[in-house]
Amino acid sequence: MAQRLVSGELQLDDQDLSLRPRRLADFVGQAHVKDNLGIAVQAAKMRGDPLDHVIIYGPPGLGKTTLAHIIAHEMEAEIRVTSGPAIERAGDMAAILTGLQPGSVLFIDEIHRLHRVVEEVLYSAMEDFFLSWMVGKGLAARSVNLRINPFTLVGATTRYSLISAPLRDRFGSVFRLEYYQPADMQVIVRRSAQVLEIESDPEGLDEVASRSRGTPRIANRLLKRTRDYALVMADNRISGPVAQAALNQINVDRIGLDQSDHQLLNSLIDKFDGGPVGLETLAASINEDADTIMEVWEPYLLQLGFLERTPRGRVATRLAYEYLGRTYAQPDSQDQGRLSGF
Ligand SMILES: Nc1ncnc2c1ncn2[C@@H]1O[C@H](COP(=O)(O)OP(=O)(O)OP(=O)(O)O)[C@@H](O)[C@H]1O
Ligand SMILES: [Mg+2]
Repeated sequence: MAQRLVSGELQLDDQDLSLRPRRLADFVGQAHVKDNLGIAVQAAKMRGDPLDHVIIYGPPGLGKTTLAHIIAHEMEAEIRVTSGPAIERAGDMAAILTGLQPGSVLFIDEIHRLHRVVEEVLYSAMEDFFLSWMVGKGLAARSVNLRINPFTLVGATTRYSLISAPLRDRFGSVFRLEYYQPADMQVIVRRSAQVLEIESDPEGLDEVASRSRGTPRIANRLLKRTRDYALVMADNRISGPVAQAALNQINVDRIGLDQSDHQLLNSLIDKFDGGPVGLETLAASINEDADTIMEVWEPYLLQLGFLERTPRGRVATRLAYEYLGRTYAQPDSQDQGRLSGF
């Protein structure tokens, strides 16, 4: 499969490429997505049509980019890769679209960050494989109309709700990736250990899997750090105790929370009585960017049930208090305490 790169593409090193499954059959977990995508791909191939446009969303590191490449591979199509913020002008988008071979996959990462004028070029391109945009200003303005080759747009985003309705409506399928089940994480870590030719015991790999917060990218990262530790501090074999020691050493706790998560929860509990507190205020209290908290940290804490988003702000739950070994005050008694403080 030919891979042409457009601006904005991150270069991947060879090892990362080999860690990425290349076929749908090798993509672990996400059964719902896998099944439906498999049917769509097979139907498109049987009809000899390009696959209908696809959007994939979910928290970072769950396999959106991987799936985009798998789609191209399964369709035996060329893939061109770019990202929303990398396309600055409508003309750049038009240039990419006119350069597509029939049946190509155009992968736009962070599609929620497309500029509005760029996005508008996509509308007719997606619907009718037709480009129509204005060139020049004032009296010199003229519209350009061009037919383009049929293609498949694959969009990825961590923020589905930020995609405008007209763009969203033009996708034929929407796939949402979930955090991986523990059993799937074990398979992913074992596969990665095999690719990286790491000496290990199953207990060691399962320890890495269980501390990877249901996220393959984190699993691969922790596996590499554990491999380093095993090499330097042990006999170059990832056993259960070696994995535990390695991960404790880098402050990843037994359910995968790291220092940042602890800091966030502790700040919420200590500075704001467990909430509710607005995201911006919470972010400022730990010197972090609100968007990063919302996109990267919070989803897993929400999934664990440690955090709740309420109309009045973020709240630490009883589970969070218990996990951190803190005493939980009933919300009622907290409120009364606040009232009597007036
Ligand atoms: N189902 C899977 N099976 C095995 N490995 C996977 C799977 N999903 C993802 N990975 C691995 O996890 C890593 C991260 O995946 P990927 O880059 O596709 O995530 P992403 O959703 O695009 O993240 P981001 O939102 O940050 O762009 C890749 O290196 C890939 O090898
Ligand atoms: Mg990605």
